[in-house]
Amino acid sequence: EKQGFKHFMLKEIYEQPGVVRASLEAYFTNIEESSESPINLGLPREFYADLAQIQIVACGTSWHAALVGKYLLEQLAGISTQVHYASEYRYAPSPLTPNTLIIGVTQSGETADTLAALAMEKERRQGQEPQYQARLLGITNRPESSLGLMVPHIINTLAGIEIGVAATKTFIAQLMAFYALALDLAAHRQTVPLEKLVEIINGLRQIPKEIEATLEAQESLTEHLAHDFAETKDFIFLGRGINFPIALEGALKLKEISYIHAEGYPAGEMKHGPIALLDAKVPVVAIAIPGSVYEKVISNAQEAKARDSRLIGVTPVNDGEAAEIFNDLLPVSSVDELLSPILTVVPLQLLAYHIAARRGLDVDQPRNLAKSVTVE
Ligand code: M6R
Repeated sequence: EKQGFKHFMLKEIYEQPGVVRASLEAYFTNIEESSESPINLGLPREFYADLAQIQIVACGTSWHAALVGKYLLEQLAGISTQVHYASEYRYAPSPLTPNTLIIGVTQSGETADTLAALAMEKERRQGQEPQYQARLLGITNRPESSLGLMVPHIINTLAGIEIGVAATKTFIAQLMAFYALALDLAAHRQTVPLEKLVEIINGLRQIPKEIEATLEAQESLTEHLAHDFAETKDFIFLGRGINFPIALEGALKLKEISYIHAEGYPAGEMKHGPIALLDAKVPVVAIAIPGSVYEKVISNAQEAKARDSRLIGVTPVNDGEAAEIFNDLLPVSSVDELLSPILTVVPLQLLAYHIAARRGLDVDQPRNLAKSVTVE
């Protein structure tokens, strides 16, 4: 079943280009054929009417996907979006707001806290004025799950079954769902001109082969790099903007399967405390993609280098400036910043995988973790 791969996780990392292709085919119609929006998620009209706010609940990697989603929903569709840990939100919800879309993100559809947060939201909105009624949406890889029974509408993510406990291809599938949702809302609300929408969708269509190129280039690079971290105890991951959640995800992947302490930070926050941790023993992985925050990330990375940290850059292939700053490069294709998370996460998955595999750990079944967390 592992089709020649040593672990399911590695196989699932390699399945990601196919997941993006399947999502493109399912969510995006031919642009010429489209009327109002080139996206088809089968969502009811009332989801779009006078939408004022979005609240998202999720845990773990799904929470990271939701943070990328927030960026897209706010920057593309102009809708104020809040992302909550489901375990927190269920006991301390935001004040009731009208015309609010509530989204639960869970690949398994069985995470107890996410289900409970949605149930709470559903209940407290029952019997309220129409504008306060719940508009509930689930994003899941298992529409037949408990989540599927609880919410009236689902965006079905198209990862196929994921066996490795560390989420990889389901994360990419969740990102695709958020791109589709944000672009659909942007089309309906006319917050982005049609030509720009078409440009973004065309960019998405290039992503599968760019992931393939990244995988090809990085398999041996990351494997090689993993040798150097046999004794490493701490890692820092930095990103900004749409790649901040990817820094969090890179750190979570490493923690989960290699048992190395890792923290993800928005790069600008470094100087507010974590910089005190840095020395030659603490490597720093920085995601630096040309765009709105590129120079900022580079200058934050330089601050880390000045503290003797080994600096690993996830950055485009032909970036001369970056190449000089970083001790090691995990190059990705040049890609629009807005689409970059789908690519930048791949080397971080591979890095975590190879470090854990090198340490001889049970990558697919890490200690103390289960594929779905059905208890509070
Ligand atoms: O099934 P869910 O997406 O609701 O799961 C949420 C988390 O338990 C999950 O993402 C967890 O953090 C993974 N092990 C991450 O790799």
